[in-house]
Amino acid sequence: MTASALLSVRHIVKDYRAHGQTVRAVDDVSFDIAPGTTFGLVGESGSGKSTVARCALRLVDPTSGEALIDGVDIHRARGRALRELRARVGMVFQNPVAALNPRIPVRDSIAEPLRTHERLSRSQIDARVAALLDEVGLATTHAARLPHQLSGGQCQRVGIARALATRPELLVLDEPTSALDVSVQAQVLNLLRRLRAEHGLTFMLISHDLDVVRYMSDVAGVMCRGALVEVGPAAQVLTSPAHEYTAQLLAAMPPTPGAVHPPASLDTNEMSPLP
Ligand SMILES: Nc1ncnc2c1ncn2[C@@H]1O[C@H](COP(=O)(O)OP(=O)(O)OP(=O)(O)O)[C@@H](O)[C@H]1O
Ligand SMILES: [Mg+2]
Repeated sequence: MTASALLSVRHIVKDYRAHGQTVRAVDDVSFDIAPGTTFGLVGESGSGKSTVARCALRLVDPTSGEALIDGVDIHRARGRALRELRARVGMVFQNPVAALNPRIPVRDSIAEPLRTHERLSRSQIDARVAALLDEVGLATTHAARLPHQLSGGQCQRVGIARALATRPELLVLDEPTSALDVSVQAQVLNLLRRLRAEHGLTFMLISHDLDVVRYMSDVAGVMCRGALVEVGPAAQVLTSPAHEYTAQLLAAMPPTPGAVHPPASLDTNEMSPLP
């Protein structure tokens, strides 16, 4: 492990038992993510990307291996140490509407991690929720709404605000834009880039969209049938890959001209009015 890694995934193996058979979803995967960098993970459906992410944040237990956050194994931490580690990481899911409780107003979805992790008064929580809504480009009037009263893009902004509530250092983003309309995807990516810059965040970004990974990532990893087959600088891995499987992925998904939004247009784009 690199001493400075914020997230260090070490030899993670995850077996699932289904219909009497064992499926090795993740097969000895290791990588490090340095603070302030973005690690993009690509690979075809079923290659184990989400399972690695879930093991890294202890949403599922690996069969073996470790996931160190700032040097501490999240799978061995207990009690207060575990709560502290959990507050340092956040996760954003693919389907923003399904990720939110349909009966809980936006305000309470965002406040929930605060109530779990911090002892704050009601007015302190209200102030934090208002600040988080503002950070993700939502109005205070959205606080009282239910998820079905928001667009998909607005729901994902709520998901991001919720993930940021405890002021984490690491965000794991599992296909954060794939369920969104194309026009909204760029807005959400640009929001993530702005938040990353403002807070010095570290990202682990999973996407099947190679343009998204190119646009967002410093380092890219490629998974194939549970194994990490290639890791390196994103620009290199996603243009002149060393591994044949990556070359096949690239051939199947060549760069889309115009799909990657030039930095110059970012900030205006992101703040354009919501639908
Ligand atoms: N809870 C589970 N029970 C049994 N098998 C599972 C479970 N979750 C995942 N798997 C299996 O593990 C493998 C990896 O799944 P995973 O969801 O990690 O892939 P993925 O790369 O995220 O795919 P996608 O791009 O479709 O999201 C697949 O074969 C999947 O069927
Ligand atoms: Mg997945």
